[in-house]
Amino acid sequence: MTDREVDMTTFIEVPRGLAGVIVTDTEVGDVRGEEGFYHYRQYSAIELIEKRDFEDVWHLMLKGELPTPAQREAFIAEVTPLRHLPKPVADLLPALSGSVPMEGLRTALSFAAANRGMKPLLDIDEETRLADTLFASALVPTILTSLHRLRHGLEPIAPRDDLPYAANYLYMLTGETPKPEHAKAIEAYLMSTIDHGFNASTFTARVIASTGADIGAALVGAIGALSGPLHGGAPSRALDALDAIGTPENIDHWVRDVITNGGRLMGFGHAVYKTDDPRSLMLRDVATRLGGPRVDFAKQVEKRVVEILAELKPGRNLYTNVEFYAGVVMEDCGVPRDMFTPTFAASRVIGWAANVLEQARDSKIIRPRARYTGEVPPVPVPTA
Ligand SMILES: CC(C)(COP(=O)(O)OP(=O)(O)OC[C@H]1O[C@@H](n2cnc3c(N)ncnc32)[C@H](O)[C@@H]1OP(=O)(O)O)[C@@H](O)C(=O)NCCC(=O)NCCS
Repeated sequence: MTDREVDMTTFIEVPRGLAGVIVTDTEVGDVRGEEGFYHYRQYSAIELIEKRDFEDVWHLMLKGELPTPAQREAFIAEVTPLRHLPKPVADLLPALSGSVPMEGLRTALSFAAANRGMKPLLDIDEETRLADTLFASALVPTILTSLHRLRHGLEPIAPRDDLPYAANYLYMLTGETPKPEHAKAIEAYLMSTIDHGFNASTFTARVIASTGADIGAALVGAIGALSGPLHGGAPSRALDALDAIGTPENIDHWVRDVITNGGRLMGFGHAVYKTDDPRSLMLRDVATRLGGPRVDFAKQVEKRVVEILAELKPGRNLYTNVEFYAGVVMEDCGVPRDMFTPTFAASRVIGWAANVLEQARDSKIIRPRARYTGEVPPVPVPTA
């Protein structure tokens, strides 16, 4: 037995939810919760947002390094045509227009992967794996915006090859060339959510990749995990809460009521950050630059909620997470509420893809075990 193997006849107890358990090695990135810091490969994610653009970070995540100017040009030329929907996928989308976008996305992406003829990761080389991840990550925004428009009785809008990723996303959603400040704000949001350590959807993608299944399967599984409200489904709920609170005078009463009834305030608390979430701080700055009464109100709510949580939930260190200001920023930029979680998925697919590529290089299947707590077996099977 090597030092990386485990005796399968013994139990190793781990904390609930695998909190804090290291399950693999990675060079994709990590979160340092106590410090309020996270990184993509060797770079601070927040510094990347300040200094580089979306396409550079996409290249970094999937190809392992920031591009040189020539590599950047070649990368943009490689991914831009991949934004266009293959005809069979475009033809499928009207049938999915009745479902919510995350459901439609998982179905459409699954079909797009099958239609491309994606092969199991186990059977393809590194170059084909990379091509499959570029295909999927370039296509997701177009699938999402098309589904959204069809759902609202509008014609899908084809991608514009002259626009960068984030501006093109807003364009495909609204049909209008976005204002530069909106494109910049959404780009910052999208860059901030590309990856975030070993979160539930990333783990899901890696578990599926560890079986050697195809990249479509791994990404579709991750979409399912992200759709849950405790993971990616909170930004619209955070805005719903702002609406429900309504006025500054109502904050205390509303917040205390939720907490004393055992409820949770969406957009607050984080499984890893026990201090300010750096994405929330960055997005608060982005929101402040966009300005407006909604932003002012959100800041008031944040201040009071943090104070009340400290009083009613002492020692839990609950602050805003990425989703609180994400909702405010997206709404200001014209992204409708039902597209908040899908917009998160549009960037996170790149993080999943980077993790899937890494996982595929390790042929060990992820296979933990559960402690059986039911009636002691074998109980005699009753005769029919
Ligand atoms: C994100 C989240 C799931 C992390 O959970 P976690 O680290 O596993 O923390 P726990 O669920 O163990 O909660 C620890 C304590 O803080 C409380 N708490 C955590 N988040 C809270 C919130 N948003 N509002 C009120 N109380 C909260 C819990 O009730 C619990 O209290 P207890 O000790 O009295 O039982 C959790 O904070 C949450 O549900 N937040 C709201 C949903 C959200 O914003 N999701 C987006 C995440 S990016």
